[in-house]
Amino acid sequence: MTSIAIFASGSGSNAQKIMEYFDNHPSIQVKLVLSNKADAPVLLRAANFMVPTYVFDRKAFYETPQVQEELANYKIDYIVLAGFLWLIPLSLIQSYPDKIINIHPALLPKYGGKGMYGMKVHEAVVQAKDIETGITIHLINEEYDKGEHLFQISCAVEIDDTPERVAEKVHALEHAHFPRIIEDWINKASK
Ligand code: GRF
Repeated sequence: MTSIAIFASGSGSNAQKIMEYFDNHPSIQVKLVLSNKADAPVLLRAANFMVPTYVFDRKAFYETPQVQEELANYKIDYIVLAGFLWLIPLSLIQSYPDKIINIHPALLPKYGGKGMYGMKVHEAVVQAKDIETGITIHLINEEYDKGEHLFQISCAVEIDDTPERVAEKVHALEHAHFPRIIEDWINKASK
């Protein structure tokens, strides 16, 4: 069995889709959900799937090996970032080389980098009058939002779309594609 851990800071609708997809999967399982927010709805979603959770604060994440120890306890092979907003420390990237995947709610390199997250991305897309946006699934390396792209898919932005409407379209793309891309990536990497 290959074990994955999901890091998420918020609602966790992507985490939910991932846990659904890998529930009873023959070779991949979600073993742990980690969050920097004790009241993040993603923790309840994990509990519904009987997936253990781990909450940490900034100090533990950046100044202690606690999170890495937790990952080691659960023998985690791959890490999925699904709406996790903190920069991953170098030590964690080095422990999981090319084994951390992230989803970004835009067509990188557009609307990436520090401060570009959540509704800020969709507001910028509407502001710029872009005719399309989409999602990027990519590996994490030492540079913010600059790891290798594994997958992109776009959707149209209509002239009267609000940022909220764009967010809905982008979320639908994320839910439809992220679990399958994670599966393909792990299958290829484990060969
Ligand atoms: C998603 O749009 C993802 O692209 C971004 O954060 C959002 C998380 O949404 N990184 P949810 O918590 O999975 O609903």
